[in-house]
Amino acid sequence: MAKIPPGVGPRFPQVVVLFGATGDLARRKLLPGLYHLSAAGFIPGCRIIGVSLDDIDADGFRAAARAALGEFASRKVTESDWAQFSQSLDYVPLAAGAPALRAAVEAAERSLGGPGDEMRRLHYLSVPPNAALPAVQMLGEAGLVERSRIVMEKPFGTDLASAVTLNARLHETFAEEQIFRIDHFLGKEPAQNILAFRFANGLFEPIWNRNFIDHVQIDVPETLGLGTRAGFYEQTGAYRDMVVTHLFQILAFMAMEPPTALEPAPISEEKNKVFRSMLPIQPADVVRGQYAGYRDEPGVDRESEAETFIALKCYIDNWRWAGVPFFLRTGKRMAEGQRIISIAFREPPKSMFPPGSGVGAQGPDHLTFDLADASKMSLSFYGKRPGPGMRLDKLSLQFAMHDTGLIGEVLEAYERLILDAMRGDRTLFTTAEGIERLWQVSTQLLESPPPVRLYPPGSWGPKSIHQLIAPHAWRLPFERAWRDPNKTGN
Ligand code: BG6
Repeated sequence: MAKIPPGVGPRFPQVVVLFGATGDLARRKLLPGLYHLSAAGFIPGCRIIGVSLDDIDADGFRAAARAALGEFASRKVTESDWAQFSQSLDYVPLAAGAPALRAAVEAAERSLGGPGDEMRRLHYLSVPPNAALPAVQMLGEAGLVERSRIVMEKPFGTDLASAVTLNARLHETFAEEQIFRIDHFLGKEPAQNILAFRFANGLFEPIWNRNFIDHVQIDVPETLGLGTRAGFYEQTGAYRDMVVTHLFQILAFMAMEPPTALEPAPISEEKNKVFRSMLPIQPADVVRGQYAGYRDEPGVDRESEAETFIALKCYIDNWRWAGVPFFLRTGKRMAEGQRIISIAFREPPKSMFPPGSGVGAQGPDHLTFDLADASKMSLSFYGKRPGPGMRLDKLSLQFAMHDTGLIGEVLEAYERLILDAMRGDRTLFTTAEGIERLWQVSTQLLESPPPVRLYPPGSWGPKSIHQLIAPHAWRLPFERAWRDPNKTGN
């Protein structure tokens, strides 16, 4: 393992209380993530107390955690690292109540040499929305609020009224500074690289505005379907699951003004200003889709109107972006899994190239970010095809982080964010104000959603997506594939 740079791990020992410890997210991401942080030496003083409805004991939880690692850990699990990690695990069934939870936390703190001021608690609520407030109440009753932070999973409400109520109820127990609303897209390396790209370079920021940018696309098609999440998805749909959370957060990084410092408060402030400047989403600017066959999936209402796909146009009505459309799209069971931001630059005012030369024939110049874990970027432009006459082709400069050899020890999004929460760093977390504003701009859409249109699984969505973006075109599917770093001459 690479040496851990100073200041990356938490300063104080941590007791993690993981609600929903046997659930899907815990098994797929949180337990493997905590295991990796432990094995890599990031969190030497850490105890993890699982809590869930399952009537199991600590050994049962260890067995469940081991099985989850076997299935989902992205790195090798060694017996010695596992032995150490498993000793840090304990379990309290929800039915045992607040006193049992408190006793378990105290025991964990004692095993770390506490309790004392030098000790922190991280309560992670990996539970369905209706279980979040009861968990908060239990933490309050157990007297586990001080020295603690609480990580919340989306959805943070389902509309403005419910978000305001949820935040008010949370604030009865926890101060806003203690609440970490997680959006794992912001924990992805490439998302943070947007900030580096924009603000560490003098080259692009001067053209990062309405004078040079024609439109922006944030496109996150997924090939996967519902899996076992019908119950969740029927309540949320693609807009609440992906747009209000991930896509709008990415949009804020892409669109925000330079913060006064790379610190949590100035970054949140700039993101919230983007949200404040957003115009309300107009139902006429939205295409809702549902893949054919969705209604036959187990657990789905035969007349379900839940959207498994959404594409929309929105505007940020400030000096930098007024009039520039932002097109967002995401959906399940689509043709490809991709996560891209594509920025289309304005075309030259006049062309002196002869008719048929090809200029403009393949769309405008684009800057494209691929938000896949190994991030990529490309800048496409027209250049002369070698030979007689003046024929133009779309060419591109491409960068793949993979080629740098720096990719070795990346933290996965959840690992990064868990570590940040333990350190009390809120930079990559969202605020109550931001969330409430996003629900506010969503009100018209949520109250009068356009009808869902069917699309064939494996496609790019309902046909009307083309009208939504006209006279532009969706970048995906790409006309030219990313260059394969292992091949030459492509
Ligand atoms: C989750 C959504 O937050 O993000 C899922 O609930 C979605 O529906 C997932 O599939 C996508 O995340 P990632 O990191 O796999 O792209």
